[in-house]
Amino acid sequence: MTPTAFPQRILLGVTGGIAAYKSAELVRRLRDAGAEVQVVMTDAATAFITPMTLQALSGRPVRSGLMDPQAEAAMGHIELARWAECILIAPASADFLARLAHGLANDLLSTLCLASEAPLFLAPAMNRVMWQHPATRANCALLASRGATLLGPAEGGQACGETGLGRMLEPNDLVRALATPPIRADLRGLTVLITAGPTREPLDPVRFLTNRSSGKMGYAVAHAAQAAGARVILVSGPVHLDPPPGVTCLRVERAEEMRAAVMAQVDGADVFIATAAVADYRPAAQATGKIKKTDGALSLILEPTPDILAEVAALPQRPFTVGFAAETERMAEYAEDKRRRKNLDLIAANRVDDRGMGFDSDDNALTVFWEGGSQALPRQPKTRLAVALVELIAEHLHRSRAAPDQP
Ligand code: PMT
Repeated sequence: MTPTAFPQRILLGVTGGIAAYKSAELVRRLRDAGAEVQVVMTDAATAFITPMTLQALSGRPVRSGLMDPQAEAAMGHIELARWAECILIAPASADFLARLAHGLANDLLSTLCLASEAPLFLAPAMNRVMWQHPATRANCALLASRGATLLGPAEGGQACGETGLGRMLEPNDLVRALATPPIRADLRGLTVLITAGPTREPLDPVRFLTNRSSGKMGYAVAHAAQAAGARVILVSGPVHLDPPPGVTCLRVERAEEMRAAVMAQVDGADVFIATAAVADYRPAAQATGKIKKTDGALSLILEPTPDILAEVAALPQRPFTVGFAAETERMAEYAEDKRRRKNLDLIAANRVDDRGMGFDSDDNALTVFWEGGSQALPRQPKTRLAVALVELIAEHLHRSRAAPDQP
């Protein structure tokens, strides 16, 4: 699969689980994205959704039997394995993950997975206790170590009535994930702490000072870090985004609250990435009642907020520390100045005076600076840019760990 194109030929494996009802919607969304979809069902899946439904939506006969003489006479299982540009198993049941992890090939779908060199994406769906079970954890770790990409699961209410991790990702999230290039960074075993979004500094009970940050950049970085295998903690200001599934998200409003959340988590963090647009100033006093309108001008006294990034970078046992710089002029000069003053490992600078990039946009461009070097990451959707940024961060992190005294 090329990093820029949506896969054209998707083999969608459906295994037995209540989330199989979402496969119908998923087939439609994948076709809307321009892909041909060949559905392969396990026997158990056919108890949850009929092959007829998926056949009608995909426009292709659904395959399920390994020993089907008619199907083997046409596009046999090896041809099917070669045809697929990528394989997506959604939902992937605990049983199917276990069979895949052990290389079993006792039905058509598991045989295809074994016989194909196409990238494999797994969207697990199961009860939360089954998901947390050491056997499932070990199977997933084994599959990930062999190059499979796990998409989700998400957290929330489950069909069994419980609440927790185990829901299949929504079809739109799966389509988005297939459109994102695979990440080449390896952050397995590491914890990445990220700030995202704006802060709100209250003036009175109904008004606040804030900025245009949507959180898109920070949430994309969280998603990319998680895709690289990291445990991700996202400290987020108020935004209208759902955190990537599996990411621990701590919601805050004020800079002081963001600082407290970061300081409570930073001890265990290997990497800190400050994408948040933290308000630099806050009202020196917050009125307890709504400030009344008068005919005259109103003056506000503002005081500086704590500089979270500088505080983390000054810790004696600090994580690998990455700042952002939002600039409207002399970007390189101001960003480099911030990097030196705050003693950062890397700083990612972006221009925020160009409509369509920076704040509250889907696209962005970054120039990343470090001691003695820089790299431009050209304009692209934030989801892709975040992948490139996390790859660069991982490269510098691993280099600094290999040679701790080198810049
Ligand atoms: O959220 P989006 O709409 O996707 O927009 C993305 C973005 C433009 C907000 C993002 O790409 C970005 O530039 N984030 C940093 C914004 C910013 O506040 O830049 P700054 O140059 O003012 O701050 C420098 C660094 O210090 C930043 O890493 C910031 O998180 C950090 N900081 C700033 C002030 C403060 N009190 N505490 C901090 O930690």
